[in-house]
Amino acid sequence: MVTWSAPGKVFLFGEHAVVYGKPAIAMAIKPRVFVTVRKSRAPHPAKSPYIDSCFDEMGVKGSVYINSQLPSSSGLGSSAAVTVATLAAINDEFGINNSREQIAEMAFNIEKKVQKGRASPTDTTVSTYGGLVFIMGASRRRLPPESFQMVVGNTMVSHSTSKMVEMVADLKKKNPEICDPVLDAIGGITMSAMHHLVDPVQLGRLMNMNNSLLEVLGVGHPALSRLVLSARTAGAYGAKITGAGGGGCMVALCPKHLKSRIASAIEACEARAFVTNIDTEGVRKEKDV
Ligand code: MEV
Repeated sequence: MVTWSAPGKVFLFGEHAVVYGKPAIAMAIKPRVFVTVRKSRAPHPAKSPYIDSCFDEMGVKGSVYINSQLPSSSGLGSSAAVTVATLAAINDEFGINNSREQIAEMAFNIEKKVQKGRASPTDTTVSTYGGLVFIMGASRRRLPPESFQMVVGNTMVSHSTSKMVEMVADLKKKNPEICDPVLDAIGGITMSAMHHLVDPVQLGRLMNMNNSLLEVLGVGHPALSRLVLSARTAGAYGAKITGAGGGGCMVALCPKHLKSRIASAIEACEARAFVTNIDTEGVRKEKDV
């Protein structure tokens, strides 16, 4: 029996646009998902397309126990973290010897299958390697870690990433003359952010712009707007939807001394908030218990 864990993530810039080959910046965050795998001849069905696919891909059978500190269906990459940690745990328990690269690739293929072909490798890359990551098309680059002070606000409105991705695809098909320039502009914001990674004031402005463009794409939600506005009013440098939107989470970049005030302002909107920072470690083995 072995236990592996993988971190969640926030998109700082570029969600949705990244599905169309535009650049994005995402960061691994605490908390993590813990997955225990045990060889078993008669495993219980996992009832998760992600976990079932992990065993199918690896060609083995086993039992799984998940202990997640990450809320699911909230935009924090919990399905990718579960997939990456499950693949790594199966790899170890069955002595399969796949490399990290192979695990990242398999996890991406599983996400793509569950998201009906439309997915970027962002979540699975960040969960596998940790840290701050720049993604564009097939290229993935780890950036030097930055100690961003962040507060995540969870609207508790659950959403489905595949449905939101499908909705944007539909909008783009019907209105390419509107959506294509918006996706390009999101890409422009991400590239500008690459030049301001140590300037939180400018990064915050860029996050606010990115949020407006996500709303144009139809992935906003009244509950998200409330949290974004309350974080900004409480002094955040910037705040935006993170992940697929339509519910789920937002993220605020904060001055260090205002983190608790911003978290309280978010919680006053009947939401959950937590303070977080970068997790530089990706998927890892936990001590046997
Ligand atoms: C979901 O966390 C982010 C999206 O850009 C989808 C993807 O990148 O696969 C909406």
